[in-house]
Amino acid sequence: MFHAAVVTVSDRSFQGERPDGGGPLVSAMLEGAGYCVVRTAIVPDEQPQIEAVLREIADAGQVQLLVTTGGTGFAPRDVTPEATLAVCQRMTPGIPEAMRQASMQVTNRAMLSRAQAGIRGGTLIVNLPGSPKAIRENLEAVLPALAHGLEMLSGQPANCAKLDS
Ligand code: MTE
Repeated sequence: MFHAAVVTVSDRSFQGERPDGGGPLVSAMLEGAGYCVVRTAIVPDEQPQIEAVLREIADAGQVQLLVTTGGTGFAPRDVTPEATLAVCQRMTPGIPEAMRQASMQVTNRAMLSRAQAGIRGGTLIVNLPGSPKAIRENLEAVLPALAHGLEMLSGQPANCAKLDS
């Protein structure tokens, strides 16, 4: 079973002005897919604070998957993608490509998500938008394929038998 962390990036949720709807939804979806969510956090839309929590969680070595929600749009304070780029050693562009491709079937505003995904050490970091609707649509698009990537990342033998048939 893979372990996961969920980080909500939102000024208003951090300040207690709005309940965090996104983080619990991401956790529920991950748990429904068999992940064990061992860490959650809420941080404001401040790049140094986002980077710090991503580094801290990834470098603790306890989670194979870290999902962020929020801060991927065009507002001046939307800096989650920049923080993710700053902390990742290898980017995994196929994941946000797949999310945007699937989401474009639902709304052309999907192109406005600047979400990134990449690897820091043994942790895959994936950005999601902030709204519950967008979380559901984006995470559903990539969740079925993530486990295979995490198997490769964590050095577990990957079963690629079906590629030969
Ligand atoms: N993707 C899907 N599947 N469904 C959506 O409703 N909303 C878009 C986009 N991606 C959306 C979506 C919008 S309107 C924005 S501004 C961006 O995600 C960024 O969202 P964020 O600022 O909450 O991170």
